[in-house]
Amino acid sequence: MRWSLDTMLAENLKVDGGGLNIPDTREAMVRSSEDAIRRSFGGCGEECTLVDHHKFATDAVHPIEEAAFRSHLYRMYREKRAELEGGSTNSQRGNPENLLEAMVKSQLDAEAEAKLAGGDSKVAGLTESEIIGNMWTLIFAGHDTSANTLTFALAYLALYPEWQEELYAEVAACGDPNFGDMPKLPLCTAVCLEALRLRDKVLVTMKEATVDAIIPYTTWNSDGNVTQRTHLVKQGSIIAIEQTATQLNPHAWGQDNLNVNPHRHLHTTPPFVGFATGQRQCIGKRFAETEMTSFISGLCSKYIIKPVKIHPEESWLELKERLIHSAVEEITLRPGQFSLRLEER
Ligand code: HEM
Repeated sequence: MRWSLDTMLAENLKVDGGGLNIPDTREAMVRSSEDAIRRSFGGCGEECTLVDHHKFATDAVHPIEEAAFRSHLYRMYREKRAELEGGSTNSQRGNPENLLEAMVKSQLDAEAEAKLAGGDSKVAGLTESEIIGNMWTLIFAGHDTSANTLTFALAYLALYPEWQEELYAEVAACGDPNFGDMPKLPLCTAVCLEALRLRDKVLVTMKEATVDAIIPYTTWNSDGNVTQRTHLVKQGSIIAIEQTATQLNPHAWGQDNLNVNPHRHLHTTPPFVGFATGQRQCIGKRFAETEMTSFISGLCSKYIIKPVKIHPEESWLELKERLIHSAVEEITLRPGQFSLRLEER
């Protein structure tokens, strides 16, 4: 939670006021990553070999932090392993407390089993490099996506203050919400889903057809006449799913498809592909929803979010252009630079 908050505020926004004193520097990014890694994985500088695509992604997104980032992952892994080998934590009793513990525990269990069976414990279970690769995948997959979705959600809230009041009422009705209160905060979740629908972060997903399949689809002309069609997709075909177009399809989402309306997520919606669907959909979906709901509810219960104009005459439409439409396509859709002011309620 704190990670996404730090990262988002330091990287994408320059928060102005409101007591959240987080400097807008690359150092803050490194520091917040350190914090986050500890929080996510419980707790360690050396070289490591990440598989190529992980390395590519790290280089592309945060070149300055890459070395520090990798060495932290390795340090945490080794500290956790030493802890589990020598200590008596919950994890050793069978209840891993976080993902790192779960992975290291499975590694230690596999090694112990191999030893008992007279095999080579060094080749049993996940390798050190595989554990680091998984830590990196989870952090990479869960960090930019959540932070950017939250950034857009805040931008929409700043532009549409009426939604903030609804959120405030929802949170106030909960008192001091905790994890068990998630179902009582549907609008807080819906605001994030609507930000994700309108500004989808994972722009394209690629799938391979494992069997021949007939896929239904629709086309429509400028008069709004819709034609239902089908297309035979042969086994082995690679399909690129345009997430953004899918989420904005007026045939599925209605003629108000471009409007900001979190309420649409309170009911059954057309297929929502923000987290993908099917067997390889996002495994962090619930985590992300919980994290984002917790963040939005916490913030809206204490602060009013306001856009900061770059000059006094900046119009609402100009603000919207800057906050929402200046986003750039990188590996995910990254919001442009803008400032928000948090005023205490
Ligand atoms: C708003 C936040 C998030 C969005 C929009 C998002 C979106 C997605 C999408 C669209 C995919 C499918 C990619 C594809 O099929 O090519 C995916 C997969 C994945 N996500 Fe997320 N994600 C989010 C948060 C998270 C978090 C918090 C985690 C981890 C804690 C996570 C871990 C993963 C992993 C490991 C996969 C790969 C799953 C697989 O291939 O089986 N994601 N995510």
